Amino acid sequence: MKALITAGGHGTRLRPITHTQNKHLIPIANKPILNYALEYVKEAGITEVGIITNKDGTEVQDVYGDGSKLGLSITYIPQEKPSGLADCVRIAEPFLGDEPFIFYLGDNIIVGGVKRFVEEFQKNRSNCHLVLAKVPDPERFGVPEIRNNQIVGIEEKPKKPKSDYAVTGIYLYDKTIFEAVNSIKPSARGEMEISDAHQYLIDKGLKISYSEITGWWKDTGKPSDLLEANRLVLDNISKNIAGDVDSNSVISGRVIIEKGAKIQNSNVRGPAIIGAGTQIINAYIGPYTAIEQNCIIKNSEVEFSIISQNCEILNQKIRIEASLLGKNVKIIEANSKPYTNRFILGDQSLIEIR
Ligand code: DAU
Repeated sequence: MKALITAGGHGTRLRPITHTQNKHLIPIANKPILNYALEYVKEAGITEVGIITNKDGTEVQDVYGDGSKLGLSITYIPQEKPSGLADCVRIAEPFLGDEPFIFYLGDNIIVGGVKRFVEEFQKNRSNCHLVLAKVPDPERFGVPEIRNNQIVGIEEKPKKPKSDYAVTGIYLYDKTIFEAVNSIKPSARGEMEISDAHQYLIDKGLKISYSEITGWWKDTGKPSDLLEANRLVLDNISKNIAGDVDSNSVISGRVIIEKGAKIQNSNVRGPAIIGAGTQIINAYIGPYTAIEQNCIIKNSEVEFSIISQNCEILNQKIRIEASLLGKNVKIIEANSKPYTNRFILGDQSLIEIR
């Protein structure tokens, strides 16, 4: 069995971070989102992976190369433009061939991985196995209509959802999916919708099976989803202090301090992770915070946030919370007159000041 994983698309809801970075490389608990998908398929015994990328840019290739560091063999499949998930499957046919495969949306994170779904698909011998999750806002997703434990219809982002389930970004298919993705037409929003391909299979009377996720699953489409995914992943870490912690610091709960990180006169309250080369000086780091490598947090308080590599947060009087910082961001004290707030912000930045 092979895996097809998406790492292309627009990433518009995560701007400005995605102006300069592929969204799949945004860190969740100090690992790129895409790492989770790759680890899950590996754990399910799949080593041949195709990754859909945007035509321009080699960021994903630069990080994962041929996949050997993760024990995988990765083939990159550039997509002309982000014209829909069914298009991703269509262009991957030469890579996938006739074998059944798992299609995994690279911005989804799920506790417990995907092995169990691969096994259920193999047991059911269906043409298509979908993974459903109960959500409070089904109108954001593909939504199944279920009657007598059978999926009888699927709509993409319906205004009036016919159930409170989302079709998550974990799909298992046999080769009949290629007929579907080659037959459907673009939707009103101009995309080749994977939900339309599923509806095609239903209309043809093919066998669709499904599993329900009982634990948590997250589609990291918006900044608040990223913070939530970060929280959920951090909730499952174990304590590991490999960096230097001085005797004036207090580390409580499940905290990972990577080798080369330095904590001085500070209070780190887990679950939290502090990346290699990061310095925490006279600061408070609260629960559900992930700070990547080579940051400096000094005389400041940070909680429930994702701080990417090489950021500096210095001398802040008010705690920074529920924040998402891209790489090389500086939040520092104005130390020349007039004492005002000064901003140098890229397009679509968001600042909320108290
Ligand atoms: O997360 C589950 C949902 O994912 C499903 O419930 C929906 O039925 C499905 O359409 C999809 O909806 P999204 O609006 O969340 O899809 P999004 O555009 O965010 O893309 C999902 C992933 O696929 C993400 O990794 C980006 C990538 N992508 C997307 C498109 C449209 C590509 O690589 N190429 C594309 O053309």
